[in-house]
Amino acid sequence: MRTQVGIIGAGPAGLFLAHLLQRLGIGCVIIESRSRQSVEETVRAGVLEHWVVELMKDLGLGERMLREGHFHDGITLQWNNQRHHVDITGLTNGKRVVVYPQHEVLKDLIAGRLSQGGEIIFGVGGTAIRDLDTDHPAIDFRRDGTGALETIQCDYVIGADGFHGPARQAIPAAQRTEYQKIYPFGWLGILTKAPRSWHELIYTNQGDGFALLSTRSPDVQRMYIQCDPADDIANWSDARIWEQLHARLGTDDGWSLTEGPIFQKGIIPLRSFVCEPMQYGRLFIAGDAAHIVPPTGAKGLNLAVADVLVLSRALDAQYKHNRGELLNEYSATCLRRVWKAERFSWYMTTMLHRNELETGFEQRIHFADLDLVRTSEASARSLAENYVGLRFD
Ligand code: FAD
Ligand code: DHB
Repeated sequence: MRTQVGIIGAGPAGLFLAHLLQRLGIGCVIIESRSRQSVEETVRAGVLEHWVVELMKDLGLGERMLREGHFHDGITLQWNNQRHHVDITGLTNGKRVVVYPQHEVLKDLIAGRLSQGGEIIFGVGGTAIRDLDTDHPAIDFRRDGTGALETIQCDYVIGADGFHGPARQAIPAAQRTEYQKIYPFGWLGILTKAPRSWHELIYTNQGDGFALLSTRSPDVQRMYIQCDPADDIANWSDARIWEQLHARLGTDDGWSLTEGPIFQKGIIPLRSFVCEPMQYGRLFIAGDAAHIVPPTGAKGLNLAVADVLVLSRALDAQYKHNRGELLNEYSATCLRRVWKAERFSWYMTTMLHRNELETGFEQRIHFADLDLVRTSEASARSLAENYVGLRFD
């Protein structure tokens, strides 16, 4: 098989890249190790930055998002049983975010790609990348995991294969530097069949720590609570989850959280991670393959899309004008934005979680940070600008 760009992974990075390349007239093939059903059903991120919403519309993929997504012009921060509204739209010249779950985005991207005749090979096994430091790199794989060995010959290989994929490891260890921070807490996420309890997202730090109230639809709500990352989900009965959500989201003004049946729950660890550089020879890595943020700032998915937007422009310059500078600068360009998103995600995470390993001094500094957002417009604006998505430069 021969194509211009071989993409490993049908997550947000791989699928957005395929759509961007299609629009530019550049050929590509995606291989994905999971089934289409698994990709379309895995519950992950929820918030789309302002410019990602615009990009979905530009690509002709925004119809369902506009119909079913929830537009938010602010978020609520909570501590000491008090709530504070951050006017995201007022602080960012009219920008809004949309709560539209990642797996819904992926359904729209997959359906769009297939209807345009694009190729996505699901369920592959044995993915291997080779000849990256030559002009003709290749990806080997087996259809359905066990089929005959097949090869995609291409000009460029894109590792959009997430944190555990093989692409990052294909950069020789001596040529990459990895920066990592593991947090001593995880998130327990639930989906519940219940009506909305509040009109916007609430991020709170009270009682035993962090909780987040988000939404999925008028009758399905998404909530998270800070927990021990090594904890077993079996230790969390529904009653215990609700008790913790009530404690962390409770206020002094008589507001109450509406409960419902919990139909999905799981625990994820929190980490920050960056691999530098994001390129080796003809391999370019994008999204979670190159960096991880803790989810508190809702940046993971958005950052993956940002990488491939930069990459699509660079590939366009190479193919249309035979100019390689943008490709050479890909890693540096992305990393400038990546580190700012890492900073914001770390700031939101440390400010909003209770960390027993920190001193009382550090814990109080986090509440001072929260109160600064309440009392200082500059501080609130900084949070808002980061939340809706930083500009590209
Ligand atoms: P991925 O979405 O990981 O996609 C990579 C794809 O590559 C996968 O489909 C994988 O199956 C495929 N792949 C891997 N190896 C191979 C191989 N060898 N061959 C072929 N294909 C391969 N972010 C938030 O902002 N908020 C959240 O609440 C949130 N929750 C999350 C919960 C979980 C459990 C996880 C794992 C992540 C969460 N994130 C969240 C992060 C966000 O979902 C990611 O940042 C985003 O999915 C990154 O997109 P990606 O395309 O780079 O990687
Ligand atoms: C959701 C996830 C996040 O990480 C976040 O910051 C806000 C919302 C969600 O899944 O709805």
